[in-house]
Amino acid sequence: MYVGADYYPEHWPRERWSVYAKWMKKAGFNAVRMAEFAWVFMEPEEGRFDFSWLDEALATLRKRGISAVLGTPTAVMPAWVAEKYPETLAMEAGGRRAVWGVRKNNCFSSGAYRLLSERITRAMALHFRSVPNVIGWQTDNEFGAPPCFCPTCRADFQDWLRRRYGGLDELNRAWGAHFWGHRVRAWSEIRIPPDQSTFNPGQCLDFQRFFTFQNVRFQRDQVRILREVCPKHFVTHNFMGFVPDLNYFDLAEDLDFVSWDNYPIHGEPGMLYDAAGAGDLMRGLKRRNYWVMEMSAGPAGWGAFGRNPRPGEMRLVALQQVAHGADGLIWFRWRTCTAGREQYWHGLLGHDGRPLRRYREAARTARDFKKLEKLLAGTTVKADVAILYDYDSLWATRIQPSFQGNDYQAGLRRYQQALMRAGVNVDLVSTAAGLGGYRLVIAPQLYVLPDAIALKLDAYVRTGGVLLADLRTGVKDESGLCHERTLPGLLSKCLGIEIREYEAIPESTPIAGWLPAAGRALHAIQYADWVIPKTAEKLAGYSGWHLAPYAAVTRNAHGRGVGYYVGTVARESQFYDELIANVIKTARVRPALKPPPGVEVSVRSGRGRKLLFLMNESEQAKTLPVPAGKLEVLSGRKTLAKLTLPRFGVAVIQIR
Ligand code: GAL
Ligand code: ZN
Repeated sequence: MYVGADYYPEHWPRERWSVYAKWMKKAGFNAVRMAEFAWVFMEPEEGRFDFSWLDEALATLRKRGISAVLGTPTAVMPAWVAEKYPETLAMEAGGRRAVWGVRKNNCFSSGAYRLLSERITRAMALHFRSVPNVIGWQTDNEFGAPPCFCPTCRADFQDWLRRRYGGLDELNRAWGAHFWGHRVRAWSEIRIPPDQSTFNPGQCLDFQRFFTFQNVRFQRDQVRILREVCPKHFVTHNFMGFVPDLNYFDLAEDLDFVSWDNYPIHGEPGMLYDAAGAGDLMRGLKRRNYWVMEMSAGPAGWGAFGRNPRPGEMRLVALQQVAHGADGLIWFRWRTCTAGREQYWHGLLGHDGRPLRRYREAARTARDFKKLEKLLAGTTVKADVAILYDYDSLWATRIQPSFQGNDYQAGLRRYQQALMRAGVNVDLVSTAAGLGGYRLVIAPQLYVLPDAIALKLDAYVRTGGVLLADLRTGVKDESGLCHERTLPGLLSKCLGIEIREYEAIPESTPIAGWLPAAGRALHAIQYADWVIPKTAEKLAGYSGWHLAPYAAVTRNAHGRGVGYYVGTVARESQFYDELIANVIKTARVRPALKPPPGVEVSVRSGRGRKLLFLMNESEQAKTLPVPAGKLEVLSGRKTLAKLTLPRFGVAVIQIR
């Protein structure tokens, strides 16, 4: 297991390097990530390489037993690249080339850029393959830059479409190009849609897929070289959690494991719910443990910064990721830079270069990590519940949200957060994942529903699974055309309902027939399917007169399983708590422990061991009942029947 910091030796005088290595060692660090923005220092002019400075930096670290992940430096092109090959700069929709500077401004289809990328990757790989403390690679940095509209990308998009559809008739059919007379008669007529709220939805959806393809291909060019030259090194990439622009399942495919950059906005309500959900998605991309390659280490911003992590909060944020499957923890950054756009993106050391409170907290966390290391080996989160995370539906919802305020991820969070409040672990997986191991599958807004996925979900329920589907399920096919079936289409039998009409609801309407635990009234907002139960039982409805005949929540026995449907959005989170309580009971999903509000629970297990993480994410102490007589690993003490967690406190109990 690795712990350390993102480190930029090129920012600091050489005489500091050995001091920093010493301080890292003292903090218990054993890893850094380096060089992802250092292209110009490694290839100062085309084809002339200089790795001497990085050799020296690596040697200094090696003396302290610190390993390094090197980044391929293609997220920032040197000025000479832009001067010599202006076509490598991305083009805006209006035809203007990006101005060199900032970063992530390259075209991913430019032949020149792809060649230059391969060349620096190969040169680095050859140079560092036998440097003993280089352990792996990060490709580029945070793929997912704004798209490029240059003629090369346009031709590339056209080629991709030709491969996808074979013929123009098929493309015209799939895009529904008879509408507004948008039939195309030559591939060269096709454009990259500059605006996803007015252009053809099928075209927009395909562009997102192409954009993924383009980034995946760029990464694959690098991965191929790294695998060939450095077979012993791992290859990863730093993803961005819930950032939705690329299909992350595809991007993860060529990698050994996923890493991600975790910048929770300190002080924001729900911040740790999101970080937990993002961790679950990062684990779900390859269904294996992951690293956090960047983790905020202080107030952060490019101009204005946010609040400082409170004492204990950095440790909590880090251990939360461990609880969700992180096997590597890297803080961004080692020392706060005195220059450049990120002067206020604070690190473990301040501008003054002194190890601060935040350095000491990172060191404490590294010690905790060490205590956990042996027990965590071979463990991961094993969830009984899967949430399907579907990029096609996400993108299609972004292109046409259906109703004001609709957001795919917000929809998903309602269930994910209710599950967290209930103390239940969850996997976020793609619709392609095998579902056999799950007792419960939640499929929020499966708006794009190919027949094969509908049939798979139906079979999952028939053979004993519990499915929860909700509004806008099954509206579209994979090309973005509306299915010609009464909703929810092929899932009608499984869910035991029919939806002939639906509407956006501008105001709230009370939900009827649902007993809120808190005794508070619950309200439907934003949208209502007019759900007609066929074989399903109506669990909740509406009290407004025109919606009164319809169901808001239904439950249907289908084969050996059960299909639930939710046809609306509820304003109150209690609605989702009630719903999840009902659904997990049906699915016989038992939380390891039902936490009090503000405390998160997660379990890692494997190799016969089971570790219960308890995290107090509030600023008040919390006392909760726990299994007694077990080892609390961080304090080394045996548990009593109750445990008190101080504010931001974490406990890890070995229950097996
Ligand atoms: C990340 C990026 C880092 C750093 C950080 C702060 O997104 O990967 O290089 O820039 O943000 O802005
Ligand atoms: Zn381009």
